[in-house]
Amino acid sequence: MPVARVSNVTKVYDAEGEAVTAVDGVSMAVEPGQFLALMGPSGCGKSSLLHILGAMDRPTRGDAWIEDTPVHRLTEEELTGLRRTRIGFVFQFFHLLPTLTVEENVAMPLLLTNGRGVDRRRVGEILASMGLEHRRASPPGQLSGGELQRTAIARAVVHRPALVVADEPTGNLDSENGRVVLELLAKLTEAGTAVVMATHSAEAAAFAGRTLRMKDGRLQ
Ligand SMILES: Nc1ncnc2c1ncn2[C@@H]1O[C@H](COP(=O)(O)OP(=O)(O)OP(=O)(O)O)[C@@H](O)[C@H]1O
Ligand SMILES: [Mg+2]
Repeated sequence: MPVARVSNVTKVYDAEGEAVTAVDGVSMAVEPGQFLALMGPSGCGKSSLLHILGAMDRPTRGDAWIEDTPVHRLTEEELTGLRRTRIGFVFQFFHLLPTLTVEENVAMPLLLTNGRGVDRRRVGEILASMGLEHRRASPPGQLSGGELQRTAIARAVVHRPALVVADEPTGNLDSENGRVVLELLAKLTEAGTAVVMATHSAEAAAFAGRTLRMKDGRLQ
């Protein structure tokens, strides 16, 4: 069964009274363990499609599933639960909480799903696998760009999601740190996690096993 699937999805935004069709009748599936790159010019709809694939947003029309769960039929509350358990997100600008330490940022998804306690061993294990043990007590403000993105990846996968959605994850990194982040994303797929990544970079897309190109809201 695919980890994520969309069938003829369309996303129409209301931009100050004007309808903007960002995604225009897209159908696709993401299989377990697949590393998929989504490329295309700025404004072609990559982020919009990622948001639908990752159940961050519902399509205007069409159907979307995470595994066997129909996203288009869920309430807001059910969607939140689905995102917290099955999906991890990585962003271009990291989106870490500045007043928490690295360790606390990474533990946050576990705290949200189980308020009674966090599996500290799991947090330690994931920090180690991202090469962040020495940074566990630091606030994000003291980290390099590469360390920030590795922290964000740790946070995205600590709850063992089936799907990781990454929107320009190397957009703010130099090529060396970008390569490390891409290798970490590729490594996730070896354990069966699916990764979908939007990128402008052909070098980044080269790490993916499959590349889809988008133009004017459509897959080419
Ligand atoms: N919340 C929104 N409200 C209105 N219009 C939006 C909104 N989000 C995106 N759009 C529009 O939808 C279209 C697709 O945007 P999207 O962000 O998906 O493109 P993108 O391919 O990710 O671009 P980039 O490479 O610059 O990140 C654009 O025309 C954009 O202006
Ligand atoms: Mg985008």
